[in-house]
Amino acid sequence: MTVHFIGAGPGAADLITLRGRDLIAACPVCLYAGSLVPEALLAHCPPGARIVNTAPLSLDRIIDEIATAHAAGQDVARLHSGDPSVWSAMGEQLRRLRALNIPCEVTPGVPSFAAAAAALQAELTLPGLAQSVVLTRTPGRASAMPEGEALAHFAVSGATLAIHLSIHALDRVVADLLPFYGPDCPVAVVWRASWPDQRLIRSTLARIEAEARGIDRTALILVGPALAAEGFEDSRLYAAGYDRRYRPLGTHPRFPE
Ligand SMILES: C[S@@+](CC[C@H](N)C(=O)[O-])C[C@H]1O[C@@H](n2cnc3c(N)ncnc32)[C@H](O)[C@@H]1O
Repeated sequence: MTVHFIGAGPGAADLITLRGRDLIAACPVCLYAGSLVPEALLAHCPPGARIVNTAPLSLDRIIDEIATAHAAGQDVARLHSGDPSVWSAMGEQLRRLRALNIPCEVTPGVPSFAAAAAALQAELTLPGLAQSVVLTRTPGRASAMPEGEALAHFAVSGATLAIHLSIHALDRVVADLLPFYGPDCPVAVVWRASWPDQRLIRSTLARIEAEARGIDRTALILVGPALAAEGFEDSRLYAAGYDRRYRPLGTHPRFPE
């Protein structure tokens, strides 16, 4: 018996890995985080599967569900939105299951920041502009930020920021970032990336608050010069004169076979 933590993707029912889909189909028990996991994925569950929305359950109740399946020798598909390596509460479940000697495996998923970038048709790392992406959030009712992880600390770098769980605090995000990125810095808010009702708002730090008014809950705030850039250098990767293993130049290859 194994508990499969599965990244269910950002919303579109076909943005799940084949492995994830097949595991859902093979598990007689499916626990899903109903607040964000698309219900369409539950169509992959086998007939007669026990399907439980864990949104209203406590951690204890979730572990009870898994322990019951374990006692019956039944595999469990545990679905979390996006990729379970970020903001999924997978860590605390894994810790409990390890203590109970219940075997677990993790299958990655498409994270929401990647779905948002895809919706914007944006590369978040452009030569000379940004070579890092910071996945972060601002403090919430249930989650304080560790010291040293204030937005201003990341803003110093000028990297592309993908700010989760923070659309309700857009005014504070803007105030924190303005001194570092300036009023003309490109910003995008992506609401429900990849869902049928997805919305994109492209703006600047100075204007985004007015333009994203009324957007709440499932949205990402992306900030940084890479978001609206056209005047960046080409990468060296495909430059005609760049000697590389897969496209060697000259008679004395730099990279031997
Ligand atoms: C609890 S976190 C889950 C993150 C998820 N594990 C991931 O890989 O993206 C929820 C936050 O992720 C972001 N999010 C999740 N799905 C989204 C989507 N489809 N579009 C935009 N933002 C999304 C929002 O910032 C939301 O507040």
